[in-house]
Amino acid sequence: MSNPRGKLILIEGLDRTGKSTQCEILRQRLGESTTLMKFPDRTTAIGQQINNYLIDSSYNLPDQAAHLLFSANRWERNDYIRNKLLDGENIVMDRYVYSGVAYSAAKEITGMDLEWCYSCDRGLVRPDLTLFLVNNESNDNREGFGEERYENNSFQEKVRQQFYKLFEKQASLNEDNNDVVIVNVTGCTIEQVSEKIWTIVQNNKEISSSTF
Ligand code: TYD
Ligand code: MG
Repeated sequence: MSNPRGKLILIEGLDRTGKSTQCEILRQRLGESTTLMKFPDRTTAIGQQINNYLIDSSYNLPDQAAHLLFSANRWERNDYIRNKLLDGENIVMDRYVYSGVAYSAAKEITGMDLEWCYSCDRGLVRPDLTLFLVNNESNDNREGFGEERYENNSFQEKVRQQFYKLFEKQASLNEDNNDVVIVNVTGCTIEQVSEKIWTIVQNNKEISSSTF
């Protein structure tokens, strides 16, 4: 008998909310047949262009083109993701379509609205569960914050609003069957956040029907 399809669990949030740390903890908890992935995937040729764009503020690229690079970066990994899941492996993902849409739409460029931003990601493999980490503390004291494009508090606030618009829109259209759970991590230790996440994952009906 073939394996049951693996689960795709996505952790989303603004910059420096602890996503990468939590993804790694969750991967360990889910056990051996779990792969960790992150977007942007800076290891590919497209990913390297994205990396240059993020680290070099003088790198001039139309915002539409930057958006399409981030989307292309997801598409170039889509078959890999689908095949892993079909093989029964789980994937813990650090950012994905929601970041793609929210960061681009936050630029408030005429014509680049949520619909436009989402359209080129339509058809990508969908997550089974999305956890959105929210930290209401300022980023000012975080080490390294401000080094890359987008890492400033006023832009982050705009991105936050776009994330919420997107979640509301999705809920009202009921377009997706994937749950989005907002996880408030303000003032929490790494362990506290990982416990919150683990509880949500275990209680999720989609996820708990599988083997872990
Ligand atoms: P980030 O996850 O912060 O990478 P790292 O952990 O290596 O710093 O992602 C880099 C930035 O890219 C972040 O500010 C969010 C932004 N981003 C987009 O603008 N569009 C996208 O599609 C994705 C995935 C990320
Ligand atoms: Mg970052």
